[in-house]
Amino acid sequence: MRNRLIGLAVITLILTGIPAIADAQKNEVKDNACVDCHTITGATKGIINDWSMSKHAANNVTCDKCHSAEAGDKDSFVHNGFLITRTVSPRDCSKCHPDQVKQFNASKHSLGWTKMEATSRYKAIPEELRASMCEGCHNIGKVYADGSAGKCDSCHTRHLFNAEEARQPEACATCHMGLDHDQIEYYRTSKHGVITGLDRNTTRAPTCVTCHADGGTHDVSQGITLGTVSQGAFISDRNSGNDYVTDQYGIVQRSITREDFNAGRASMLSICSRCHSESFARDVLEGADEIKRQSDAKVGEAIKIISDLYNDGLLDPMPENRPLNPVTGNKLTLTGHQTYSNTSGIEAEFFEMYKYALIHAWKGAYHMNPDYAHWYGWAQLNLDLDKIKAEDRRLRRLAALENAEKTGGAKATPGFEGIAAFVALIVLASLVLLRKRR
Ligand code: HEC
Ligand code: HEC
Ligand code: HEC
Ligand code: HEC
Ligand code: HEC
Ligand code: HEC
Ligand code: HEC
Ligand code: HEC
Repeated sequence: MRNRLIGLAVITLILTGIPAIADAQKNEVKDNACVDCHTITGATKGIINDWSMSKHAANNVTCDKCHSAEAGDKDSFVHNGFLITRTVSPRDCSKCHPDQVKQFNASKHSLGWTKMEATSRYKAIPEELRASMCEGCHNIGKVYADGSAGKCDSCHTRHLFNAEEARQPEACATCHMGLDHDQIEYYRTSKHGVITGLDRNTTRAPTCVTCHADGGTHDVSQGITLGTVSQGAFISDRNSGNDYVTDQYGIVQRSITREDFNAGRASMLSICSRCHSESFARDVLEGADEIKRQSDAKVGEAIKIISDLYNDGLLDPMPENRPLNPVTGNKLTLTGHQTYSNTSGIEAEFFEMYKYALIHAWKGAYHMNPDYAHWYGWAQLNLDLDKIKAEDRRLRRLAALENAEKTGGAKATPGFEGIAAFVALIVLASLVLLRKRR
């Protein structure tokens, strides 16, 4: 009887009890509801598995902490009695990780989506094909319904969200590869990459994040100067920020001031000089700056050749006789918004020159990869320029021949020489005939 009374008192206390405790219990039940039901039903088994090995699981950061939605959220739906969303944005992460989100927003990674969307090459691809192409990499800056941008599972994949995974060069590999930005390959076969390839755990040589995420920052743009994304930058009295400007050669790129260059370079050198002498590292990076300058000049030569052909009306076909470029219309467009379809032969040759060879020359050099800097880069650049020069000569010779033919054709209505020649021929034929008769 006494035990029963105590039991009743405890139950009453729980039912009417301190609201905070009741809330905590409700949370506990809700937390378990997601994980428990997914575990029992085997739904998204791999996700449960990844998550249970994560620091989030260890810290009770359950599914709902990230996936719960508020009434009115655009992409929310009711799921077994809970209002949830499938998409989790940086704003959701920022509730617990505000610093990382802030740093990420300061980097070019946060621009990945908007910069992609603005280009003609993106607009020229049929809409239904884009998800598996440009978007598959540029979603690192994906813009969510709540307006925040960035895909936080790009480097520490869901649902393990492991920091160590993100420190490995492979974390960057899906995107930083290929014809126009092969940083993973530049790195892997550089002396630095070879050393870390031989021994995963060594700290003797740097990995991508040693140079680009110093101290664990999420601002990968720190310390980048002329070697910035896409076509890089050149020194000018104005910092173009994230806008593009056209350089003296006609290449669309960014511009930075001498002060910003010096600050960025000093920051990168402070990393190199943990292992190398600063003067050694400075020489290496200035060598790469020079490769960029001279390679840009080579591309400038090609731009001049093609612009002259355009001015002489000799591109085949001329821009006004092709489908419009989605951004620049029927203007001659080299670098920047240049497309790789509906172009002319010489412009297609040029596309490969500026988009692949030029890039490998200096991006390879900034990553201490002599082979990319030279064979894929500088050597290819020179070969491409020769091919462009040959095509220029061919187009001009062809035009001259066509011109000659045209002027030749005009003479078909007999002029004085024509009539004279005709008369001479008749005279000659009559003489021959007369001689035969005799
Ligand atoms: C009663 C069981 C149950 C509960 C409770 C439950 N889930 Fe699920 N969930 C499932 C099953 C089964 C699937 C796979 C089939 C489906 O998509 O509905 C699923 C699918 C999902 C999906 C994918 C939905 C889609 O359309 O892509 C998400 C996200 C998800 N659950 C999150 C949660 C979260 C967050 C909670 C807790 C707030 C939760 N679930 C609670 C059973 C449950
Ligand atoms: C730390 C935050 C976080 C937690 C905790 C979390 N998720 Fe996710 N989840 C994400 C992110 C980020 C995405 C990718 C969303 C995007 O890109 O829009 C995602 C996507 C998903 C998807 C859709 C994509 C796919 O691969 O099918 C499902 C289903 C899902 N989560 C289920 C769960 C379940 C079940 C749990 C609990 C075991 C859980 N999540 C816990 C952050 C989280
Ligand atoms: C409710 C709070 C909360 C939310 C929301 C949250 N996290 Fe976490 N996260 C934590 C806690 C707690 C830890 C563990 C911290 C520790 O051990 O020092 C953690 C750790 C991490 C780690 C480090 C793991 C490691 O291996 O050291 C990463 C990466 C991470 N979170 C990413 C994310 C991402 C990305 C999102 C959004 C998709 C997110 N978190 C959302 C609370 C949260
Ligand atoms: C999901 C694809 C993706 C992954 C994974 C990725 N990046 Fe990027 N990265 C991009 C894109 C896209 C840009 C260009 C964004 C823009 O400027 O619009 C970029 C730009 C950069 C830049 C240039 C910054 C600047 O200011 O010029 C650096 C450095 C960089 N990433 C480093 C890394 C490192 C290091 C990793 C791995 C830890 C990584 N990225 C992982 C897609 C990715
Ligand atoms: C370009 C790759 C990349 C992207 C994208 C990325 N991270 Fe990270 N993240 C890392 C790396 C690398 C580390 C490990 C840093 C270190 O050396 O401690 C890390 C670590 C973390 C940690 C653990 C921090 C600590 O000190 O333990 C958190 C939390 C985190 N990231 C959150 C986020 C959030 C939130 C986002 C989205 C805004 C995000 N990350 C996007 C690469 C990335
Ligand atoms: C030894 C340091 C170092 C390592 C390791 C390193 N980078 Fe770089 N990275 C640089 C330098 C130096 C630049 C150009 C800096 C400048 O603009 O002055 C650069 C530039 C970049 C850029 C801008 C475009 C370009 O290539 O110039 C990206 C993107 C990038 N790195 C990604 C990566 C990725 C991904 C990895 C790993 C696979 C990596 N980097 C490894 C030093 C490094
Ligand atoms: C394999 C992944 C990948 C694919 C596919 C991809 N990109 Fe990129 N893109 C990147 C990376 C990584 C960078 C930055 C690295 C660099 O430039 O060295 C970048 C840079 C860019 C930039 C420069 C952004 C800036 O801030 O100046 C633009 C614009 C761009 N890409 C547009 C596109 C378009 C349009 C497509 C499709 C036609 C596309 N990309 C396909 C990975 C990719
Ligand atoms: C964590 C230490 C570390 C950092 C940081 C580092 N390196 Fe190295 N680097 C090495 C080691 C070790 C080697 C191999 C030396 C050899 O070839 O004997 C090397 C090799 C090189 C080489 C080619 C081999 C040679 O010595 O001629 C160049 C070039 C180079 N580093 C430049 C740089 C530059 C530039 C930076 C900064 C952007 C940098 N390194 C950052 C450790 C580092």
